[in-house]
Amino acid sequence: MSAGAPHSQKIRTQVAIVGAGPAGLILSHLLADAGVESIIIDQRSRDEIESTIRAGILEQGTVDLLTAIDPNSRVNTVGNRHDGIELRFQSEGHRIDFPGLVGRSVWLYPQHEVLKDMLRLRLDAGQDLRFGVTATRVEGVETDTPCVVATTADGEEITIEAEFVVGADGSRSVVRPAVTGSSTGGFFREYPFAWFGILTEAPPSADELIYSNSPNGFALISQRSPEVQRMYFQCDPDADPNALSEDEIWETLQARVPGTALKEGRIFQRDVLRFRSFVAHELRRGRAALVGDAAHTVPPTGAKGMNLAVADVVLLARALRSLFSENDERLIDGYAEQASRRIWKAQHFSWWMTSMLHSTPDASDFDRHRQIGELHSVVESDAGRTYLAEAYTGWPID
Ligand code: PHB
Repeated sequence: MSAGAPHSQKIRTQVAIVGAGPAGLILSHLLADAGVESIIIDQRSRDEIESTIRAGILEQGTVDLLTAIDPNSRVNTVGNRHDGIELRFQSEGHRIDFPGLVGRSVWLYPQHEVLKDMLRLRLDAGQDLRFGVTATRVEGVETDTPCVVATTADGEEITIEAEFVVGADGSRSVVRPAVTGSSTGGFFREYPFAWFGILTEAPPSADELIYSNSPNGFALISQRSPEVQRMYFQCDPDADPNALSEDEIWETLQARVPGTALKEGRIFQRDVLRFRSFVAHELRRGRAALVGDAAHTVPPTGAKGMNLAVADVVLLARALRSLFSENDERLIDGYAEQASRRIWKAQHFSWWMTSMLHSTPDASDFDRHRQIGELHSVVESDAGRTYLAEAYTGWPID
């Protein structure tokens, strides 16, 4: 290739999907089912995608969809159904019984397992899926022929000419500016704390997840498998994950779940997760739309991130199916409004769980007493427990 004449390739498809996370992969499956062709690109390698550590709770509706996509899905064999969680405060545990309250459950099945399943399924089905391809810009979203310009790992430029572009490319979305007019354009809120997360080689310390509010701050005792556990404790957003010894980590965790003797093991992964709430000002413009983290971010407390992405793509797939097969624009015109309803309900739930369970650095004595009053109001009322169970297990995807 001579200098000054960069190689450029053009490819055509109906839907160009940027991002091979759960949203992009599930969308490509639903589109293929409706006879709509798509290409997915992702700047990461398959290995990186499959090893990214994310949250682990799937709503009932997400599990129903994964099972409909693949009746042999490992979510039903490797995943574990959880029929409740425990809210702990003032050293006492209060179980929220999901099936008893709302007839639904959640599944503990880590996101990277969903990714492994979906990647295998889509590649086996012949999906055009390109790793190591970085989108640089999106053009022409106000026309019927938008395109994604991208660069491959060896510097080759490719242009994907499509009829619709979907940004499923996470919180640093390259598609977002084409939809909202800016890379930041959105409603957002930051929190004065983060989560210190660990993975440890130990058996579970409890049967179900424990969300604990303690005078020392929040902790969450989650799980991954019979041999590996995931735990978090509230920390400063600028905390250095390597500054604490293993003993200090166990001491911090243990002090925050009084009443349970944590089963300790080797800590083989540690990270600090900053969190914020974000919703893009616009979710769709002309022939482009945003889904998943490109459209919104929630704090992890309500375990809504991936579930919300799945709900977005169910709506979008339906809208694109009617656009392509019936030339009917009504659903795509209603996408932003319809998706927003669930997004804001999930934003509220995630904010509420976060604010109810964490300590804020500037909280007064009044604030601390009020928070305990709020927790009592929830666990001692059928209405309170039912709202929590309904939101946690997820509103039905219609
Ligand atoms: C997790 O296991 O990573 C997890 C579980 C529940 C949450 C957040 C994270 O609310």
